[in-house]
Amino acid sequence: MSPLPCVPSAQSGKQARGLHVITWGCQMNVYDSARMTDVLRPLGYRAVDAPDDADMIILNTCHIRDRAAEKVFSELGRLRLVKEARAQAGHGTVLAVAGCVAQAEGREILARAPYVDIVLGPQTYHRLPEMVARAARAAGAVIETDFPVEQKFDFLPPEREVPAGGAAFLTIQEGCDKFCSFCVVPYTRGAEASRPVAAVLEEARRLVAHGVKEITLLGQNVNAYHGEGPDGAIWGLARLMAELADGIGVERIRYTTSHPRDMDGDLIAAHGDQPALMPFLHLPVQSGSDRVLAAMNRGHTAQEYRDLVMRLRAARPDLALSSDFIVGHPGETEDDFEQTMQLIRDVGFAQAYSFKYSPRPGTPASGAGGQVPEEVKDARLQKLQALLREQQDAFNAATVGQRVSVLFTGRGRKPGQVSGKSPYLQAVHVDGPDSLIGQVAEVDIVKLYTNSLGGVLTGETGKA
Ligand code: 5AD
Ligand code: SF4
Repeated sequence: MSPLPCVPSAQSGKQARGLHVITWGCQMNVYDSARMTDVLRPLGYRAVDAPDDADMIILNTCHIRDRAAEKVFSELGRLRLVKEARAQAGHGTVLAVAGCVAQAEGREILARAPYVDIVLGPQTYHRLPEMVARAARAAGAVIETDFPVEQKFDFLPPEREVPAGGAAFLTIQEGCDKFCSFCVVPYTRGAEASRPVAAVLEEARRLVAHGVKEITLLGQNVNAYHGEGPDGAIWGLARLMAELADGIGVERIRYTTSHPRDMDGDLIAAHGDQPALMPFLHLPVQSGSDRVLAAMNRGHTAQEYRDLVMRLRAARPDLALSSDFIVGHPGETEDDFEQTMQLIRDVGFAQAYSFKYSPRPGTPASGAGGQVPEEVKDARLQKLQALLREQQDAFNAATVGQRVSVLFTGRGRKPGQVSGKSPYLQAVHVDGPDSLIGQVAEVDIVKLYTNSLGGVLTGETGKA
């Protein structure tokens, strides 16, 4: 094994060490990467932009689709060269693989890439300091992919590095018990678990104190949230959001990702009653065919999804909807696919993600009969994406001429420009000073771009 950096002790913990984290996949991985950085800060690690400057590199992986493992091995090949070049210059590098590929294929990673020092699953990153120390001492790699009995959240440092730009993610729920036929998440992220209300409120309070205006609550099944409240009662997501808005003062709240089956009456009502809750909802339906929905083990019909959307729109008429779609699930016929197209036409989506079905080892659908040929999946995906694109363009075009509140999260591409998000999660660019970053301001939308909107400041700063 190549030399490892000496690990600073907790006492001498200020010695600066470079940390480079590469994040793939969902927002939960973005949150996890930030929290791994927080966990390593007391050891002296500070984020650096270039892997060549990093004493530790973490590759935080995603296993949800496509050739996840091959992508990891090809990236590891590149990082191996970085590690070797640094070793030649007399610097050690700890190379860690985290996330869902690490969870699912940890042993395989160590067998095929023996230059990796640490493999850790999503549930064990609170143990990183100990793993780094063990990697420095041991002659072999360290692997931690069990689901530990302790809750990692109880062991994370309370202080977080607050992202610039006024928007932050906050994981409140993890894991999934739904076992959709195609999905690897219940195996990589484990059983569904909710963080206690007090812990969520405390983290949100700190974010707000650091100027955060918008919090996106995260979970694989976030609307199944059922955290223990300070009063001993179990709180659902609607009650939690009410406290975040009214008690903690979070100006803008979003939540993702949700399952249609967990959309209860309180949550639907919150879309009408809670002004802090942004009028945008990502509610994956996956397919519009009852036959395919049943094969997917989704637990609802296409009509039940349509009815749910009607109830949500009755509560919040301007609600913008987003979804995930899978084409070519085993057994999907042309007629099933047409029913998905019809559901899209009936509902109307402001944006959506769509994928070709990709067999995940160990999931029920991967061994099912009726696998759909690749070229059929390609053709269906193209048709589906063309329709979704039309709907997205029409939705964005309808925003031109409207006044919306925008949270400015960073600089735009052009000098003198700042960019942010509308309540409907559209990207908006305006000419304006950097001082707007992290602030909410009213904007008149005047222009439609391919994937964003151009606006003019009204000069009136205020709440969403
Ligand atoms: N193949 C294709 N898409 C998948 N997704 C999850 N698993 C698979 C798979 N095996 C999609 C679903 C899910 C989103 C996060 O990824 O649409 O909602
Ligand atoms: Fe995967 Fe979502 Fe289904 Fe859970 S509900 S198994 S995370 S697709």
